[in-house]
Amino acid sequence: MVRVTVPATTANIGPGFDCLGIALSLYNEIEAEEIEKGLLIEVEGRDKEEIETNEGNLIYQSMLKTFDRIGWHPKGLRIKQYNRIPVSRGLGSSAACIVGGIMVANKLKNSPLSKEEMLRLAVEIEGHPDNVTPALFGGVVVSCQDQGETNYVRFPVHEALKFIVAIPEVQLSTKASRGALPEFVPFKDAVLNVGKSSLLVAALMSGELEKISCSLKDRLHQPYRISLIDSLKNIFQEAEKQEINQLFLSGAGPSIVYLTWNQEKEEKEKIFYRIIEGMPEEWNIVTLKGD
Ligand code: HSE
Repeated sequence: MVRVTVPATTANIGPGFDCLGIALSLYNEIEAEEIEKGLLIEVEGRDKEEIETNEGNLIYQSMLKTFDRIGWHPKGLRIKQYNRIPVSRGLGSSAACIVGGIMVANKLKNSPLSKEEMLRLAVEIEGHPDNVTPALFGGVVVSCQDQGETNYVRFPVHEALKFIVAIPEVQLSTKASRGALPEFVPFKDAVLNVGKSSLLVAALMSGELEKISCSLKDRLHQPYRISLIDSLKNIFQEAEKQEINQLFLSGAGPSIVYLTWNQEKEEKEKIFYRIIEGMPEEWNIVTLKGD
């Protein structure tokens, strides 16, 4: 029997659409073993009723693709998933299944695939690299996919950073959320995003954390996505009024991250909590660190 642990991830971090991601201190665990025949999938934990326990299971699908690549298939398979990452909330639950499935399948056959080969397969399955790279490598990962090739740079998450994550009951699929994006964006919006995203990476790498506050604005995806759910729009509008500018939509949403790093900002944290608590729907707030 082999076991792997995979972190949740938050992608985009505001302006870094499809290229920035950070691993968070919230983990799924996957166990797998070869059995004589058949397929047994057991799921425990959060949102377990939403996770398929048949051949449609994403971990199983990702394991199959890995076995194809390795050129070996087990006679039968038992998989156990301990799920802690909320499903379809923008916290990389699919990436964790894909990366976890690839890692556990690779481990089952004594790890013939390198991390780079696992990354290539994970990006092929997920379609974009910003969740799967931090799920596989941990830390902050800047990744860029071009003509089928993914290049990335990974560095550690600054230990002062705190991710206050507001997670709504309502779900939003990445497919629906990507469907809200425009085919074209104004040139000035693209320019703003290039500047903000570059500044954000520089601030995260250099430790000049105060520069994060002015780096999280996005014009490529958030304005289109927050219109999909009323409370998202209300939260961002209210936060702007109260001068809280450290918020971003986690991945494709609907979860929201308030990113903070020092005690002086506690007053702002309280305001963020009050805004979330004032919403008519149910939201949970969890505080996470980087992985
Ligand atoms: N970059 C992706 C998106 C992350 O925003 O659609 C979600 O998987």
